[in-house]
Amino acid sequence: MHLDRRSLIGGALCAAAMPLLPMRTLAAPDDMPTDMAAFIAAMPKAEYHVHLEGTLEAEMKFALAKRNGVTLPYADVAAMKRSYVFHDLPTFLKVYYEGMNVLLTEQDFYDLCYAYLAKAHSQNVLYAEMFFDPQQHIDRGVPIAAVIGGITRARADAEAKLGIGSQLILCFMRDLTAENAMAALDAALPYKDKLVGVGLDSDEKDNPPSKFAAHFAKARAAGLKVTAHCDVNQKDTLEHLREALVDIAVDRIDHGGNILQSPELIAIAKAKDMAFTVCPSFSGKVVVDGQPVEVVRGMLDRGLKVSINSDDPAYMGSNYITQAMAEAQVRSKLTKAELVRISRNAFDTAWITPDRKAGYQAKLAAFAKARGVAA
Ligand code: HPA
Ligand code: ZN
Repeated sequence: MHLDRRSLIGGALCAAAMPLLPMRTLAAPDDMPTDMAAFIAAMPKAEYHVHLEGTLEAEMKFALAKRNGVTLPYADVAAMKRSYVFHDLPTFLKVYYEGMNVLLTEQDFYDLCYAYLAKAHSQNVLYAEMFFDPQQHIDRGVPIAAVIGGITRARADAEAKLGIGSQLILCFMRDLTAENAMAALDAALPYKDKLVGVGLDSDEKDNPPSKFAAHFAKARAAGLKVTAHCDVNQKDTLEHLREALVDIAVDRIDHGGNILQSPELIAIAKAKDMAFTVCPSFSGKVVVDGQPVEVVRGMLDRGLKVSINSDDPAYMGSNYITQAMAEAQVRSKLTKAELVRISRNAFDTAWITPDRKAGYQAKLAAFAKARGVAA
């Protein structure tokens, strides 16, 4: 991982229209006023764009490797972290998928998920919807029952012990075959009551949302919601956004920053009240009318429903949602009222009952009122 804390320029991954930049760690800039940092830390939050396998910290990798008798290709945690150097989505994904080799048992998935939820709870996340990549586990011979079972048990324990609510989203790996994804969906459907939706992740190049139209339709018929990654500055990015929005009619979009380049797509998204789960670590700037625009700022200014999320925090300097928000605050010059708006967008985005949503929104409103922030 390249450390470039002082660089607040956009670090878009796989930036076709931007120079390739080393992926930065996200960290609250040192000169952030303490009251702003405290405000962000204490604000009630929700998170929707976090890959559980992307929360697998190097320390946990070593602990699980020991427990499972797996040999890691690094001498220690520091050496492993030094290997986290990425310059585009494929180079990131290679490290990310290799890292999963230590996840073998139901208890491993429990430990992974519980650690994320405990971390999120410590950052005042009240509710999270988390991605997982079943194909990667099934293809290594790990039973889907162990994957979903461990995660589900951790979710229940975290809710009971910490009070954090959560749900689970199964992601299709778009760079594998449609058949492989369909097999994973079929394997998971007997556990559909443990899932809230399906998503689409991994390498987007030449893997459009339409490749998975049948999968999305089957998932929908089973009562699941649908989301899709539209990574930033990918090949055919606007066509992929159009397919997701119009052809698949997704329920939300993960990343999606290039929509700022299309007034037509913005109008469609607004008409659908579409939510965008933006991760400042991956979604840096996009070029709009020749000018670089911060994705969070651009979406806010155009009235799009944007939330801020952490994506793969274990691979990004262990920066979870609070740090992602702090980074976005500086880069997009967010006011406290805008931060509250972003958190309100996030609770609004949840796939939960209106009553539960109202409960979370009331907590956020009380937080804003107590601090004199008109929201
Ligand atoms: N994009 C695509 N695939 C992923 C990501 C991402 O941000 N994180 C983990 N898999
Ligand atoms: Zn993602």
